[in-house]
Amino acid sequence: MASLDTLFEAAKAIQAKAYAPYSRFKVGAALATADGQVFTGCNVENAAYPVGSCAEAGAIAAMIAGGGNRIAQIVVMGEGEHLVTPCGGCRQRIREFAAPDTPIHTAGPEGIRKSFTLDELLPFSFGPDNLTGR
Ligand code: THU
Repeated sequence: MASLDTLFEAAKAIQAKAYAPYSRFKVGAALATADGQVFTGCNVENAAYPVGSCAEAGAIAAMIAGGGNRIAQIVVMGEGEHLVTPCGGCRQRIREFAAPDTPIHTAGPEGIRKSFTLDELLPFSFGPDNLTGR
């Protein structure tokens, strides 16, 4: 699997490419799959504000387009002094492709700030299993 250092650097590099002229808040996300592939995404805003997309959504779209299907760990890199944890929608997006103990690392430019498991950020979550056995 890709190292946390590799993911950190990948998140930093993609954050610089974010298109965030409205919020001026650039976010980068880098995820690793179990077989060592790394996929990245950045936020892409839009003049029609609600249409903008998050960095995590971009990284997940890249993973699926690249043939990956499971997230082994993910780094989310934001700006400023506050922790940039994934928004509620992105927690659910991650949940689709991750396990309860999958690490979600929040980072700033200086390094990893705090790490969580998916289950810590999205307890009692709804997922694909909920749709089986109906
Ligand atoms: N944003 C992300 O890309 N990921 C997050 O987890 C939090 C928020 C983006 C969305 C928007 O472009 C900007 O940050 C400000 O909310």
